[in-house]
Amino acid sequence: MTSANPLREGLEQERVPDASCLVIFGASGDLTQRKLIPALYSLASEGLLPAGQTIVGYARPEFTDEAFRAAMREACDAHARTRPVDDAVWENFARGLFYVSGEFTERDGYVRLREKLAECDRTRGTGGRRIYYLAVPPQFFPTVSTILGAEGMVHDPETPGPFTRVIIEKPFGRDLQTAEDLNRVAVGTFRERQIFRIDHYLGKETVQNLLVFRFSNGIFESFWNRQYVDHVQLTVAESIGVEKRGGYFETAGITRDIIQNHMLQLLSLVAMEPPVAFEANAVRDEKVKVLRALREFPGGHEGDLAVRGQYTEGSVLGDHAAAYRSEERVDSQSRTETFAALKVFIDNWRWADVPFYLRAGKRLPKRVTDISIHFRQAPFPLFSRTMRTHSNVLAIRIQPDEGISLKFDSKLPGPTVRTAPVTMEFRYATSFGAEPPEAYERLLLETMLGDSTLFARRDEVETAWAWLDPLLKSWESSGTGPHPYAAGTWGPDAAEELLARDGRHWRRP
Ligand SMILES: NC(=O)c1ccc[n+]([C@@H]2O[C@H](COP(=O)([O-])OP(=O)(O)OC[C@H]3O[C@@H](n4cnc5c(N)ncnc54)[C@H](OP(=O)(O)O)[C@@H]3O)[C@@H](O)[C@H]2O)c1
Repeated sequence: MTSANPLREGLEQERVPDASCLVIFGASGDLTQRKLIPALYSLASEGLLPAGQTIVGYARPEFTDEAFRAAMREACDAHARTRPVDDAVWENFARGLFYVSGEFTERDGYVRLREKLAECDRTRGTGGRRIYYLAVPPQFFPTVSTILGAEGMVHDPETPGPFTRVIIEKPFGRDLQTAEDLNRVAVGTFRERQIFRIDHYLGKETVQNLLVFRFSNGIFESFWNRQYVDHVQLTVAESIGVEKRGGYFETAGITRDIIQNHMLQLLSLVAMEPPVAFEANAVRDEKVKVLRALREFPGGHEGDLAVRGQYTEGSVLGDHAAAYRSEERVDSQSRTETFAALKVFIDNWRWADVPFYLRAGKRLPKRVTDISIHFRQAPFPLFSRTMRTHSNVLAIRIQPDEGISLKFDSKLPGPTVRTAPVTMEFRYATSFGAEPPEAYERLLLETMLGDSTLFARRDEVETAWAWLDPLLKSWESSGTGPHPYAAGTWGPDAAEELLARDGRHWRRP
């Protein structure tokens, strides 16, 4: 029997999570309003939240529960995936929303929070189960974790009793040292299996589909290797600039913001070996092996493999765009990179000498995340020695217009044998009749279920930083800055040259 709504069926779990108290630290912030509460509301409207699921916001403003509910309703009216918001669903959902006002650094607030949670256990059947979502500025991760531990609000999973889990937002450190420090603090309060490090890319349907595509179909694995693959490209392009996040971005740059986490996650999923089971540690073991196999950047010659850029004034999608250095809270002499392109090798049996080209940038011509596998040319030009054959390209579109396409040569109609590339396409929206759910919906549900397959493990994060650190340090100590590129273009010329030197060019997704 076919399902009326395959997307909903895809989200449905064999296990239903037990009702818990989800505490959002930073409940008056941008992430809570744009992503978390709308995602939780969507789960409620799909019938995927357990009865009694409770959400408690914690931040500084003085809200009553009612005022918090009203603010969250506005957030859903503006940002929920399915709008307009359904009043009946909302009423039921809002009964489980509560608020506690407090500072992150002051223990009184946590005492009030603990009392509120105990009350919810009595009235809503949450049984002492806790999920703490740290939607807080990163400098507060250690403080909040430590006070939660000190106030006895974390249950050790080694002893029987209700679960405690913690969700940590990115950025997870800004280099290996800070990531290790953060991990040390986190494991001082929580066990590794209680920690859910969010990389929202892993919650995207198309990212999860990478595993299904590779490992649920018999045919692809046979040519997913150095024998058939010429090279792989990964692009994460944003048309927007830094908007209001100039202060944060100045200290990060695109490599820390996008490549260290999202792009290395994508790379691991594309390149990993089949895991022995679809289970958290089995999957993450294989991803870590890919990260461990990344070839180090050659000291002193990083420029052969890495290009950085910074946008200057230009035009994006028809609108004028200011230069990065003119953005709010950005240094007028800034050397922060808003674009990076890397040529990466994975030194293992499957991928030896196959280049993976990664690029990420802001103020590029469009917003798109795309992975393309470029296959080797046919070995011999059978049809015409003068006519160019095209490589087969398998393109996986992560966002927007989620889908997969395969490009291959076909005969042009007519009496002579002339060929042209054509494309075979699968599109989520067409095949399943709906847009895929938001990444945060999936990730929140997985945390409630206690499944950390779609979250980054400690060694993944640290291995990724260990590989990138030398490049970042060499950029920081270099006498030169990023190459300029006009907003609305695909980055600096040097990024084109990175591929042109190898006789290749970037795909225009
Ligand atoms: N926004 C996004 O799209 C996004 C995406 C990926 C990751 N993240 C990460 O998610 C986290 C939150 O981001 P955000 O954009 O929501 O930040 P934000 O808008 O600045 O919100 C921060 C929240 O923390 C609260 N807060 C700050 N200092 C506090 C203190 N001393 N005591 C109590 N509450 C305090 C703020 O409350 P007040 O209202 O009192 O200031 C606010 O609720 C950050 O780590 C960020 O890197 C965000």
